[in-house]
Order: sequence, then C-alpha cells, then structure tokens
Amino acid sequence: MCGIVAYVGYKQAYPILIKGLERLEYRGYDSAGVALLNHGLKTYKIPGKVAELKRFLEDKDLDGNLGIAHTRWATHGEPNFTNAHPHYSQTKSLSIIHNGIIENYALLKEELIKRGYTFNSDTDTEVLVNLIEDIQLNEQVLLDEAVRIALNQVVGAYAIVILSADSPNTIIAARKGSPLVIGIGDDDFYVASDATPIVEYTKNVVYLEDEEVAVLTRGEKLKLRDIKNHEKTPYIQQLEMNLSELEKGGYEHFMLKEINEQSRSVKDSMRGRLNASKALVSLGGIVDYEQTILAANRIVIVACGTSWHAGLVGEYLFEDLARIPVEVEYASEFRYRNPIINEGDVVLAISQSGETADTLAAIELAKSKGAIILGICNVVGSSIARATHAGSYTHAGPEIGVASTKAFTAQVTVLTLMALRLAELKGTIPRSRFIRLLHELEDLPNKIERVLDDKGATKFIASQFKDVHNFLYLGRGYNFPVALEGALKLKEISYIHAEGYPAAEMKHGPIALIDENMPVVFIATSKGIYDKVVSNIMEVKARSGKIIAVVTEGDTTVRELADYVIEIPETEEMLIPMLATIPLQKLAYYIAVMRGCNVDMPRNLAKSVTVE
Ligand code: G6P
Repeated sequence: MCGIVAYVGYKQAYPILIKGLERLEYRGYDSAGVALLNHGLKTYKIPGKVAELKRFLEDKDLDGNLGIAHTRWATHGEPNFTNAHPHYSQTKSLSIIHNGIIENYALLKEELIKRGYTFNSDTDTEVLVNLIEDIQLNEQVLLDEAVRIALNQVVGAYAIVILSADSPNTIIAARKGSPLVIGIGDDDFYVASDATPIVEYTKNVVYLEDEEVAVLTRGEKLKLRDIKNHEKTPYIQQLEMNLSELEKGGYEHFMLKEINEQSRSVKDSMRGRLNASKALVSLGGIVDYEQTILAANRIVIVACGTSWHAGLVGEYLFEDLARIPVEVEYASEFRYRNPIINEGDVVLAISQSGETADTLAAIELAKSKGAIILGICNVVGSSIARATHAGSYTHAGPEIGVASTKAFTAQVTVLTLMALRLAELKGTIPRSRFIRLLHELEDLPNKIERVLDDKGATKFIASQFKDVHNFLYLGRGYNFPVALEGALKLKEISYIHAEGYPAAEMKHGPIALIDENMPVVFIATSKGIYDKVVSNIMEVKARSGKIIAVVTEGDTTVRELADYVIEIPETEEMLIPMLATIPLQKLAYYIAVMRGCNVDMPRNLAKSVTVE
C-alpha cells in the first residue's frame, strides 16, 4: 500500500527513483510523484500511473543527487494532483512521502490551523510535514530531532522519508507499522518500501524497526535512533533476492509468469525440507516449537485474502492428518472481536507480503494474551516474519502481480509439510500412508508442469465466457477453498462478479441464480465426495446452467455432464488444491486479458495492504 523510494548520494537520483517506482507500483497506482533537491526543492506529481509520471517528466530538469518518490494507494482524499505525494511543508523547505495512516491527524491539523497553517490537500501527510516544520522552527532543532519529536505526537502507522532544502546531503527516514528498507551503498543510501528497488545497487540492507528514525547523510555512516532518543546499532543483512526475479522474463504479465513458475516455486518451498526416500520431513524454522504445537489445545490460523484461503486448506490438513483442532479467522475480524486466546495457544499467521496490517495487529493481540505465534510468510525480513516467535518462509520468490498465485500454492505446500510432520510426531498417520504422501508431494512439481501445459484448454474456455456478468465456483472438502480462491481470482482481475461456495450449500441460495446464462465452475476431482459433487452438477444441469468442470484425468462421468472440462493429473485428495487452483488462476487470467483489464494492477487493489 503506497510505494516509497528515496536516494541520497552522488549518482543522479531520478533514474534510480523512477525505476524504483516501477518496481513498487504493485503497492499502489492511483498517483505518483517525485521531489528532487537541486538548487532548491522541485516536486512533480500527477494522478495516474508511474508511466504517466515518466511521460510528464520527459522535458523537465531532473538533475539532483537527492530525491524521494512515491506511488500512492489513496486513503485520505481522492487520487488527484493535490493529494498525490510528495507534500511540501508550508514554507516549502521540507518535502515528505508517507505510507500509512496518521490516525490523530484531524486533531493535529486543528492545532496547526490555529497556529496559522493552511493546507492544500486532504491528506494526513501534509499535516505531518507541517507539524515537523512547526517543531523545527519553534524549537530551533535539527530536522532529525524535529522528526523525532513530531513522531512522539503521532498516533497511527507511518513510513516516511523527508527531504529538506536546507540539508543538501541528508534525508531522514522513519517507520512504524509500515515497512522501510535502507540499502547501504559505498557512499550513498537507498530507501524503499521493500528491497525490490534496491537489489540492483546493493545487497547490504537494514530493515528499519518500528519507531526508528534514520539519518542518511551521503559519505557518512547510517545513524539510527528510536523516537525515545535511544541510539540504535544498525543490523546489516544480506539480500538473497535476484534481479531476474523482478523482471517479466518474456511474459506479457507478471501474473502469467508467476502462474507458470509454480512448478519451480513449489519445489523451492519443499527444498531441504522433504526427502521421501528417507521418509524425512522437517521445517527448520519451527523445529523448536514442535512440542509446543502438539501440546496446544488448538491452532488458530489468522490471515487475509488468498492467504486466508490457504489457511482453510491448512485447517483441513491439520485436522485430517494430525488431528489437531484448527480455527481459521479473518485477521480483521479476529482483532476486533475479543477472541478467547489463552497462554500456550498457537496462532499461525499466513501472509505473502508479511506486511498486512490486520494480520500484524491480530498477531500483536494474540501475543499480548500469551499465545505462541508462528508465521508462514513469503517476504524475507517482513514485519510479520519478525513479529512471530518462529515460522517458515515459503520461498516462492517475489510475487509482483497483485492477484496472488504462486504464493498460494507455496503456502499450501508449507502447510502440508507442517501437517505431515506433526502427524508423524503425534502418530496419527500410518507409516505407509505417510511415506506415500511424501512421495506424492515430491512428485507434485512434475504434475504441476502437466497442469500448466493444458494445450490451450483454459484459454479456449475463457474465450467462451469472457462477456458474462456472473460466475459461480463450487467444490467440496479440500476443493471448497479452491472454489473460493478461483472466484476471488476472477473478481480481482476481470471485475466479473464471482462467488465461491461449498457445492452442497448451493441449494440454500445460489441455486436461485442458475439459468442458461450462469457459468458454474465445479472442482469435481475423483477423490473424496465425488459422487455427491456429481449430484450437485446434475442439479445445475437440470436448471440449464453452463458447467465448467475441473476433473481428474480419465474422468468420464463428469465429462458427459459438463459443457467444458479441464483435466488435472490424479493425486492424493489432500494435495489436489495445489493442482486444481492452477487452471482457475489461468481461467481468470485469460478472461481478464480478453476483457482488456490490467491484470497486474487491477483497479482499487494493492498487493500489500498496510492499512486496516
Ligand atoms: C491483498 C492482496 C491479496 C492478498 C491479501 C493478503 O488483498 O491483493 O492478493 O491475498 O492482500 O495479503 P498477504 O500479503 O497478507 O498474504
């Protein structure tokens, strides 16, 4: 949610900033802007995407070695010119970019208005920059000290970077609740919301902690203090990311690239954790907590969006294999509904970005009640990864497309490994079945390859349904979360209304919607409650609904009933979500492309939702 890039050093700042914004655009794309320090502060901003900003800047003087840049996902005020970042202070000597929400901004604004300040925008950000300026002028302190004092008055979340016309060698960065990474070059610094804009310049990074203020002066060492004025020692880490992971690699969209990467990403999620021939499964990150998990009364999974769907698959896996009771909660509901959490309860947070505000808040709440917090995150060093007691990374590689694809299958992979390990320890799984499942899991990347190579089947089906207004997705058992995820993918990127439902629940409502114009996607694979799903298909057929079915290779029964079928290889029932989700991702992708939608940056969405 909002992308921040900044540079201070001896290179030209603009090319670094604009490239960084392009990499971060998945975080928000309502408006974009740049401020450069070059004989005074210059600010350029526009409503719209980074490409439009780039065009707008083609004939401008973009000289300067210090700069800040921002791509916005609107919270306070509509996405227009005045609300776009950077924002000036009243005297125009400060310029700020901000990600997050200042909750007490109205109160602060009132005070500043009384002191003679006027405001151009509706943003909380402009309030903050004026508060900093007011402190600087009244207290006669340096900029970093004014920032520190101001942040003590702020309630809410922020990642900020500030540039001052009076400090030609320095920028100030600070965070609380919203991520900020500092890249350390030879004699320069890079700042960004995540490491993607930094990786091509340096692998040495410092992840700012909450309430830390960084003073970045070119040619000098990084200085860190917290807002209580304690000096901090920067902890420098090495980035493991590769530049090629951030490029489209010949694909038209990141989403298509990421869908097609799933054989590799699932393999990476299992790497070093699974050895079927030795009957070994282990997750290094949670080894010390295995007995705690086994001793827990239940596991509460908290997550949002696609990660919540992975959590549902997790519930089925943990209960089925390890016989541990599981509840899956939307993090946003959990945090506000006074949940019963006791000491020793295990809370498992799932998050691709590791930055989702609601999930982070749910963790803090559970932690305050004495729960053990485990995490499954994709982004290394992310806030959620750092807030948990232990956890396992998914290692799917950077996911740039806003609609989550490879992160989902990687999350389900890690959940499967966890459930198998716990089942083994608890003795709830016969040895032969355990070993069979490990072999099947190890072979899954090959089966994913076969699913991906569908000879144009999903593309053809997409062409038949691209103009409809509604879609229904139905599945049972392990395929129910798949139905939810399929529907979510379609609505996110094609803007077609889609609902996922447990197939048998259809007759309690959605069946009323079925007529000859309603496509119904059934996940009707041969394991589990197949016969019951076949009955549900007949109920739809009897009402002239159009049936698209994901079936197991060689299926004949459903093939006779369905209008269109997509085959996936046979596998163990609990592994089906990792195969069956993929054609639904592709179906959504092709429909969205055929409708002319921007699949990588769907309207109103953001990849990393750092506001509640
Ligand atoms: C946003 C993204 C979704 C994602 C959800 C949860 O809505 O657009 O793709 O599933 O946030 O994000 P997380 O990073 O916590 O998995």
